[in-house]
Amino acid sequence: MLCKNYFTGTDGYCKVNIFITQLNSFLEFLTDMGITEIADPQRRRGETIQRKSLELEEIYTHWTDCTRCKLHQWRTNIVFGEGNPDAEVMFIGEGPGEEEDKQGRPFVGRAGQLLTLMLRAIGFEREDVFITNIVKCRPPKNREPEKDEVIACSPLLQKQIEIIDPELIVTLGKPAITALSGEKLSITKIRGRVMLIGGRKVLPTYHPAYLLRNPARKREAWEDLKTLRKLLGP
Ligand code: URA
Repeated sequence: MLCKNYFTGTDGYCKVNIFITQLNSFLEFLTDMGITEIADPQRRRGETIQRKSLELEEIYTHWTDCTRCKLHQWRTNIVFGEGNPDAEVMFIGEGPGEEEDKQGRPFVGRAGQLLTLMLRAIGFEREDVFITNIVKCRPPKNREPEKDEVIACSPLLQKQIEIIDPELIVTLGKPAITALSGEKLSITKIRGRVMLIGGRKVLPTYHPAYLLRNPARKREAWEDLKTLRKLLGP
């Protein structure tokens, strides 16, 4: 290779040629070690997202005509959940409301608008996290999901958690933490405290609909969001 003047070292040798020779011996060394591929974290992340989204699609297809509990009779749409299939944080609410049932998307009504604002306050967009509920069909008149309904839907929620494999789960309101922990806990007592459930970190906080009715509790919810941020690091 011709060596341009500005690549010539003070010793007169061509720096580019020396670099290429050294690079070749390094690559030969790697090949001898059996290394034939250099890790590309960006590509690997892309592949993980693709795999997880295919797996989520598969379970969606499997559950889309679900009749495992009585809620199916009243639903317009199953509300599977949405967001980043490889999310660091998963938010789990109670069950779809009227607007969610109409649109087939979680947290799109008034409580959802507040959740979106809460997420933004800690630097997340909805697409960065995964949002779902303990039951995927709307309970009539927005009543709390009943135990048999939560149990029927639980394998789907567990599968979603397994696929997404988040660093942290945030439960919104008492029914969500009860469903995950299997215990009836007082949300005012346990909110903001990290629990380990099935080896996963779970942070219970208030449901945004409760915050709409009790705005004085927003200060505590903000503390919980700051805890969430700290748990995830910078
Ligand atoms: N409340 C919930 O718990 N989930 C929703 O999706 C909407 C409102």
